[in-house]
Amino acid sequence: MTGGIYRPEEDGAILSLVNVYKTFPVRKSFFSTENLRVRAVDGVSLTVPPGKTLGLVGESGCGKTTLARLAIRLLDPDAGAIRFDGKEITRMEGEALRVTRRQMQIVFQDPYSSLNPRMKVSDIVGEGWLVHGLARGKELRERAERLLVRVGLPADAGGKYPHEFSGGQRQRIGIARAIALSPKLVVADEPVSALDVSVQAQILNLLRDLQEEYGMAYLFVSHDLRVIRHVSDDVAVMYLGKLMETGPAAELFHEPLHPYTRSLLSAVPMLGDAPSERIVLSGEIPSPISPPPGCRFHTRCFMAEKVCEEVCPLLRSIAPGRYAACHFV
Ligand SMILES: Nc1ncnc2c1ncn2[C@@H]1O[C@H](COP(=O)(O)OP(=O)(O)OP(=O)(O)O)[C@@H](O)[C@H]1O
Ligand SMILES: [Mg+2]
Repeated sequence: MTGGIYRPEEDGAILSLVNVYKTFPVRKSFFSTENLRVRAVDGVSLTVPPGKTLGLVGESGCGKTTLARLAIRLLDPDAGAIRFDGKEITRMEGEALRVTRRQMQIVFQDPYSSLNPRMKVSDIVGEGWLVHGLARGKELRERAERLLVRVGLPADAGGKYPHEFSGGQRQRIGIARAIALSPKLVVADEPVSALDVSVQAQILNLLRDLQEEYGMAYLFVSHDLRVIRHVSDDVAVMYLGKLMETGPAAELFHEPLHPYTRSLLSAVPMLGDAPSERIVLSGEIPSPISPPPGCRFHTRCFMAEKVCEEVCPLLRSIAPGRYAACHFV
């Protein structure tokens, strides 16, 4: 059906977010007593089907990391619902959350700071097994060794410390740690952004191969459209805390609907498919403390008209599977 408002397709989804909000308190200056809040995630709904990759893309500060952390309950939402594998986890706590967490893991951007420098690599990778009573001692070391070899590290890597490895190798350790418990969902927050381009491709290929082998779903966050295109089945485009567009990656890259998506794609010409229009994304991103009224994007949009300053467009169906939040699409 076209014309309808976006509602996440929750049937069979591994992850769904329904109208999720998150704000953070901020102070203008040290002396300020004003209670201001950053609206980091401002009413976002999305779904990730099992075994598939949803790529989340948008400029710096638009709320990608906040959304990724909300999805696996590393942050608590102010409002909205989060469902994982058919269960509501929005307010889940204690033992239930601990058990669910086994199924949802995260790979961080910075392989340098996300690994404990004082722990041996086999202990880093096997920590989840130890915590959940699945392996210890010699068995843990042997299992860690097999996993480390699987992610492309030398067999003796387990006995070493993180500082003995390169950036790409450390990210392989981070990936091994994330998949050790065979999770159903892996959130990867800019997992290759800190790496050289040549190493990026190797890590992306590893993630793809592991997804095929283990059947995990990925929520894959990146500001880099080329990376997003390479890894995604579906894409969600975020701007100032809201989704502007979502749909199957191939279609979205072939024919972007939202003017924001079109602007982003036009800035990366080698993406190829899109018509060779050149749209310059002018102006600064407005502050998420006081986002523009109406459509958040109107201050930078080449299509904006009066209505865009006044009415916030809802994410609505444009074609089967394709949604955009724009009055003029
Ligand atoms: N703990 C926090 N306290 C206060 N503000 C925060 C906090 N975390 C995030 N923010 C703010 O929320 C907004 C969204 O941040 P977030 O890190 O989610 O964006 P992002 O899209 O991941 O950006 P980047 O591409 O730079 O990683 C930003 O304005 C940020 O400054
Ligand atoms: Mg981020």
